Amino acid sequence: MIRLDKVTKNYEGSGRHAVDSLDLIIETGTTVALIGPSGCGKTTTMRMINRLETPTAGRVLVNERDVAATDPKELRRSIGYVIQQVGLFPHMTIERNVATVPRLLGWDKARTDRRIDELLELVGLDPSIMRRRLPHELSGGQRQRVGFARALAADPAIMLMDEPFGAIDPITRVRLQDEFRQILKKVSKTVVIVTHDIDEAIKMGDRIAIMRDGGLLQYDTPEAILARPANEFVESFLGPDRAIKRLSLIAVASVMAPPAPQDSAVAIKPAASLHDALALILAGDLPGLDVRMDSGETVGYLSREAVLSAHR
Ligand SMILES: Nc1ncnc2c1ncn2[C@@H]1O[C@H](COP(=O)(O)OP(=O)(O)O)[C@@H](O)[C@H]1O
Ligand SMILES: [Mg+2]
Repeated sequence: MIRLDKVTKNYEGSGRHAVDSLDLIIETGTTVALIGPSGCGKTTTMRMINRLETPTAGRVLVNERDVAATDPKELRRSIGYVIQQVGLFPHMTIERNVATVPRLLGWDKARTDRRIDELLELVGLDPSIMRRRLPHELSGGQRQRVGFARALAADPAIMLMDEPFGAIDPITRVRLQDEFRQILKKVSKTVVIVTHDIDEAIKMGDRIAIMRDGGLLQYDTPEAILARPANEFVESFLGPDRAIKRLSLIAVASVMAPPAPQDSAVAIKPAASLHDALALILAGDLPGLDVRMDSGETVGYLSREAVLSAHR
């Protein structure tokens, strides 16, 4: 668990609080998205967790231990950190970049080699092709995969990610969001991700912390925030399509009816969202969709009405 206890940060020479008496608890194994307008204190909050910044007041506890009392080097090796510009060492091959922390930890060559292969495969890169390349020979998305692999190298319990997809084109971004989310669930990390993109926060976060002016406006699950924004600022931040966003959080399987007697023209998978279902229904002007597994078995029927009434 990560616990921020009345944490305040004043930068030298600044008249205002970058972070203002912030209380926040991040449960082990969950992903929390910190979101809010530029300058609201997201990055500062994150950097106080791995001690790249020191609180002016208050405490940051990791597993009930005050990070101020830990060795900063040791702390940072136990916390993966991914930033927008990746920060790969440009003159080092991909394998050496990924091996940064294992080398610091003194792993032997065989163990490090195994780990590099395992990690590159995990993030969807072919080790036989990628190991010897230099960062500038990779696309932005590939570099972000390497940065992610490097942060995971020593299997840290905590991952901090500061706008990790900020510099990635929209199509690659969505793919990386999906893949990273799956990987982080599989390896059950505690994750803090900073973003200014509400759709990214909804997709990645088990909980979303909405910040403004160094403080917390609302901290809850995406479902709860979309259903009950705490105030007008949160509501406007969520956007006018809040009701449609909620559909992206509801699985087809949770509202479908038993299979219809007749096949419909278009099918959708049970794990797909109602948002995707609505898109198909509108595109084909359909009364509903068959719900079909990859195996081809039809397991249900999703009517247009079922989609439209799901948010109630
Ligand atoms: N190193 C710094 N020195 C002085 N002021 C800073 C520094 N870093 C951030 N700030 C200020 O602190 C506030 C919060 O910044 P930041 O945490 O980077 O916000 P966000 O990540 O939400 O955009 C802003 O007003 C910013 O200008
Ligand atoms: Mg920032």
